[in-house]
Amino acid sequence: MTTAARFEPAGPLRGSLRAPPDKSISHRAALLAGFGAGTTKLTRYLDSADTRSTLGAVEALGARVDVLGTDDGALTVEIEGFGLRGASEPAAGRSIGVGNAGTLIRLLAGLLAGQQGRRFTLDGDESIRRRPMGRVTEPLALMGASVDASAGGVAPIMIGGSALRGIDYSLPVASAQVKSCLLLAGLLAEGPTNLREPAETRDHTERMLRASGVRVRSERDVGLPAAATPGTVGVDPVVALELPDMSIPGDPSSAAFHLVAALITPRSDARISGVGLNPTRIGLLGILNRMGAIIEVDEDAPEAGEPLGTLRARAGSLRGTRVEPAEVALAIDELPLVGLLGCFAEGETIVRGAAELRHKESDRIGSVVAALRAMGGEVEDFEDGYAVTGTGGLRGGLVDSRGDHRLAMLGAVAGLASAEGVTVEGFAAAGVSYPGFERDLRSLAG
Ligand code: S3P
Repeated sequence: MTTAARFEPAGPLRGSLRAPPDKSISHRAALLAGFGAGTTKLTRYLDSADTRSTLGAVEALGARVDVLGTDDGALTVEIEGFGLRGASEPAAGRSIGVGNAGTLIRLLAGLLAGQQGRRFTLDGDESIRRRPMGRVTEPLALMGASVDASAGGVAPIMIGGSALRGIDYSLPVASAQVKSCLLLAGLLAEGPTNLREPAETRDHTERMLRASGVRVRSERDVGLPAAATPGTVGVDPVVALELPDMSIPGDPSSAAFHLVAALITPRSDARISGVGLNPTRIGLLGILNRMGAIIEVDEDAPEAGEPLGTLRARAGSLRGTRVEPAEVALAIDELPLVGLLGCFAEGETIVRGAAELRHKESDRIGSVVAALRAMGGEVEDFEDGYAVTGTGGLRGGLVDSRGDHRLAMLGAVAGLASAEGVTVEGFAAAGVSYPGFERDLRSLAG
């Protein structure tokens, strides 16, 4: 990705736009439809590089995928599934490409591990080949799977589908991808699977499985704030899945870039509608509240079992805060933006306990710290996070996305609010989750 884009300082952000469809939910919907019985129609399926990889993967495994229409970054797609145990083995020597998508490779590994008698290889781009896969291959091996990562515990992953048995397992990291991988494998196993999470993570898989007719056990210790409380989640084997037709809600992680742009660009007042408000995804709102941000939340009727609403953000003064350990997983993809906000806030903004950021599409501690410093930010880095001393703004400069979509979008937002503008090297990476991002951001900036 060698495309550079320039983002000059801009006037206030005004007006409104609709959030693009949710990436996490789109991946899950295509997978459950592909492994489902019958035909599922998905409306507002995210049209992005990552979620196109998922359509390609289920098609390669035998699903019929028909794109019926495309509208403003969203697809209407019909998927005829091959059934929970019916994935076809691709032609000899062909791997299934996952591109840049960590959610796809990890969830699909769980589903393929139980396809008895068939062999699969999952592979992706340079970034995927650096990310840890032992976190799924190790517990899958405990379930009796024949799943091997390449040297160093990375992709390609080689899977020989086999008979699985359920497990009781405590996840060593708070990861919705690992949890989802094992829940999906649990559907194909013999006996119950029970997982314990060290902290609450996004629960889209559980919600979608319930909508597909699966009983999902879920228990959280009572009397403590939900986010701080480890919980258990479990499934029993099932014969089949039937995902009903659904419309995918808007992505709070994508909406967050516009909201933050409005918060740090003087005199802004912007609204983003159709945003998913699942409590396991909106840790950022609590952090923003403590920073004194002016945010209004207007809830609409839920869609596809997910709460939904409109968010309004207005520029104003911000103060630094410390992100609590229990908030980390609930705001994991927004923590780069918390660093950016810190540059515009009064005092210190601290993100710690977030070593997981090192395992994202880039090492997001290294890449965020480098980006903020390149724009004039005062940032200290730690093994597990960063601390930003607010100076009231950023000068601007050159940001390298390092092929990471969230870094590319962070650079663009910073450019609008900066004194001298920002050039984002590798801006095309934004297309991994939000191809229409630049157009949407510029439409608000007028
Ligand atoms: C995701 C879970 C998170 C998140 C990623 C999407 C998901 O990853 O960072 O962007 O769809 O389940 P981890 O589960 O690895 O924390």
